[in-house]
Amino acid sequence: SATLSSLLPATALAQKKPVLGFAQVGAESEWRTANTESIKSAAAEAGIELKFSDAQQKQENQIKAIRSYIAQKVDVIAFSPVVESGWDTVLLEAKAAKIPVVLTDRSVNTKDDSLYVTFMGSDFVEEGRKAGRWLVEKEKGNPGPINIVELQGTVGSAPAIDRKKGFEEIIKADPKFKIIRSQTGDFTRAKGKEVMEAFLKAEGKKINVLFAHNDDMAIGAIQAIEEAGMKPAQDIIIISIDAVKGAFEAMMAGKLNVSVECSPLLGPQLMAAVADIKAGKPLPKRILTKEGIFPMEVAKAEFPNRKY
Ligand code: AHR
Repeated sequence: SATLSSLLPATALAQKKPVLGFAQVGAESEWRTANTESIKSAAAEAGIELKFSDAQQKQENQIKAIRSYIAQKVDVIAFSPVVESGWDTVLLEAKAAKIPVVLTDRSVNTKDDSLYVTFMGSDFVEEGRKAGRWLVEKEKGNPGPINIVELQGTVGSAPAIDRKKGFEEIIKADPKFKIIRSQTGDFTRAKGKEVMEAFLKAEGKKINVLFAHNDDMAIGAIQAIEEAGMKPAQDIIIISIDAVKGAFEAMMAGKLNVSVECSPLLGPQLMAAVADIKAGKPLPKRILTKEGIFPMEVAKAEFPNRKY
């Protein structure tokens, strides 16, 4: 007897694969590379056709990509907004075209939450708090002052805004903690190094702590600290966020004190959401990633378990 596939024209069968248009932030960090890899492999595994674009950390490129997905009439659009604001116009266009939008990793700042179906990813404010709590505990008994320099993520991005907020919320309880310099390193190693060099030039030995909004910037800063003849993690306490393999290597080498986990492995969850949307199932407005914190003392034991 004839099978369904022999009766259907090939094009009809090909059309059955859901099509997902994904507008990625860029390839700025080890985290982002792992995130892209997770999305690509999960799409292949789930039988979802993926249209992928890299915005090179520029909002205008992401907007262009989203518009092209709308023109191509994809089934679902997903993206990690490079910055928080300025999305309403393009999201209204997607809504008018009846294409559901999923936010992954980073959220948008909008008054109209009908513009997206769900937001899946980390609680960045809580990550900042975890970093702050670790420092408060570490410096218990030290009368201070404790001078902190901060390497912020991309200006206007949710993780930069929220991590700063969470960290400050915790340290402000004790006036001995002072952020003496704070500048963006755009989430990259190169910028992290460059800005740390400037911090060291301006403040030198006054710096007690570095809080970097991601591991890549911390790794860049470690180089700058070593080149300045100082010992990272000893002369300057270093706290960062992501817990990528590069951070574990730095911790095992005794050069980074702690990394707060932020998981990039959102691919399987995203593909499950696409399948649910296609099946007409409702989704929660917020899908939260569970995460931990890894001080250097546990790095060696934890390293074999790390997936990114
Ligand atoms: O949005 C998540 C952040 O973006 C990660 O912490 C950082 O490494 C990445 O570039």
